Amino acid sequence: MLDMDASSIIEQAKLNACDYACRHLYEKYGDALVVGVGTGSTVKLLITKCRDFFTERILVPSSHDTLLHLVSLGLNTAVDPAGVDDIDLYIDGADEVSGKLDLVKGRGGAFLREKSLAVRSRVRMYVVDYTKYTGLNHIYVKPIPIEVVPVSVKYVIRKLQELGYGEPLLRMGTGKDGPVVSDNGNFIVDYRLLKPVEDPLSLHNTLKLVHGVIETGIFPSNLVDIVVVGEPAGVRVLGKNTGGRE
Ligand code: A5P
Repeated sequence: MLDMDASSIIEQAKLNACDYACRHLYEKYGDALVVGVGTGSTVKLLITKCRDFFTERILVPSSHDTLLHLVSLGLNTAVDPAGVDDIDLYIDGADEVSGKLDLVKGRGGAFLREKSLAVRSRVRMYVVDYTKYTGLNHIYVKPIPIEVVPVSVKYVIRKLQELGYGEPLLRMGTGKDGPVVSDNGNFIVDYRLLKPVEDPLSLHNTLKLVHGVIETGIFPSNLVDIVVVGEPAGVRVLGKNTGGRE
């Protein structure tokens, strides 16, 4: 391990998490028919490594990116999320995981659809590497992504400044000029917190009351059943009815 650079160690941790998650899927959720699929590099790795688990199931993708990845692997059973009400199992990554299992998500801009799948799923499993898990009682490290109706973006930014929890910044694209446009045709404002937030659900509720805000990247712990945290050597399994470290 000593001669590995930091990014290789993180990649190894992701692999460890995905290996464990794949085994766990077969052991516990072999009968899941409808599976919601999140967005991001960790989920892509899991799908790639565990491809056979996803065959012959109805897959509900949370983004264009995930849909394209599924199709690239020959997994052609994806359906439009609008046509599905009941999801057996939801699998996703995350950007920040607190010790209370509140999550911050949305680096990839897919959090509105991700949450739309998570809220209608029976079991929600998140797979992350150890750099995402703080173990702290608050969220703070990652800015809170907020999906905003474009026509109201100026108003939302002003209101977020007035609320005073953080510094809002309109997310700009890299492959095009102008703001990032989500899969839903909206803008994303990143809200960099000024101090730790111990009650993320309350902050989420406050933000949702601002006209123009459609969704936030705060996933409170009630949307979390299991978190698999990949470590450089092994995994840590957190959540409801889990056995701790492996
Ligand atoms: C997508 O919008 C995000 O919520 C991702 O789930 C999150 O950023 C995790 O992505 P990585 O697995 O690439 O870190």
